[in-house]
Amino acid sequence: MNRLIKKANVLIEALPYIRTFRGKTVVVKYGGHAMTDASLKERFAQDVVLLKYVGINPVIIHGGGPQIDKMLDRLGIEAKFRHGVRVTDEATMEIVEMVLAGKINMEITDLINRHGGSAVGLSGKDGGLILSKPLTAKAWAESLERDLDGEDGDGDFGLVGDIEKVDPSLLHKLQGDHYIPIIAPIGTDREGNTYNINADLVAGAVAGALRAEKLVMMTDIKGIRDAKGRHLSTVSRKDVQRMVKKGTITEGMLPKVHACLDALAGGVGKAHIIDGRIPHAILLEIFTHKGIGTEIVT
Ligand SMILES: Nc1ncnc2c1ncn2[C@@H]1O[C@H](COP(=O)(O)OP(=O)(O)OP(=O)(O)O)[C@@H](O)[C@H]1O
Ligand SMILES: [Mg+2]
Repeated sequence: MNRLIKKANVLIEALPYIRTFRGKTVVVKYGGHAMTDASLKERFAQDVVLLKYVGINPVIIHGGGPQIDKMLDRLGIEAKFRHGVRVTDEATMEIVEMVLAGKINMEITDLINRHGGSAVGLSGKDGGLILSKPLTAKAWAESLERDLDGEDGDGDFGLVGDIEKVDPSLLHKLQGDHYIPIIAPIGTDREGNTYNINADLVAGAVAGALRAEKLVMMTDIKGIRDAKGRHLSTVSRKDVQRMVKKGTITEGMLPKVHACLDALAGGVGKAHIIDGRIPHAILLEIFTHKGIGTEIVT
């Protein structure tokens, strides 16, 4: 009996959060590093379906770094990174699109559907969702508020996209019909060139365009760490700027913090970086008072 009452209490604890977030949009970036284990993927799909069933509108943007690396390795193409960005030549772009849109996107869509959701797989090409332009090293350095000169900062990144505009019309339509959009981070420019866009940046821009209540970045680490490796539960814009300058925030964490700050500036309510390796991480973040991971505030 006690066990049953405990179960009821768990449900009741979630009530204020369900009330607050009902009808609101939560954008979730599902990092490639957080989707390695099959049972974790199942739990992720369950969480997303549960959110939808309690009236919250999830929108998923997925990454796929490790999966792309694996395929490049199989094909003998070298993976190159510069300041957290994958340098993308034409051969790499072909693989990136195949892996992201052709494989991972369909896998996530299928998994959510099998758990009772109605997911629709998209890329930034669908319905003109993401208009892109080449990301220049200069623009990247500026957005990081950091001078990359003299540290291999002058070369560009190839077919890596910057986001010029997000047109959320298609997402509004899908949400209106109760579908869960699953977005692969690929875009095109006006000439029809395809670009590989960092999924964190897409998540931030989509969250902004949808005026989402929350942006949740699921990754493979507990959250942001300081120079001594200690976990930080809240960081401000100023903290982030300082840590980027000092080189405490590097690599994959760079686009993540940048996207979170952008989303907040664009009117998104809250931004969090959480550990996707924790089972049911999204539920713990949304339905508990303390939450998990790192919250980024302005
Ligand atoms: N200050 C920091 N605190 C925490 N992690 C950091 C920090 N600086 C750099 N990182 C790195 O950022 C990584 C997370 O970004 P990464 O791009 O690797 O994963 P992801 O974005 O979740 O996956 P994907 O790119 O495939 O979507 C962490 O595993 C960590 O190594
Ligand atoms: Mg990343």
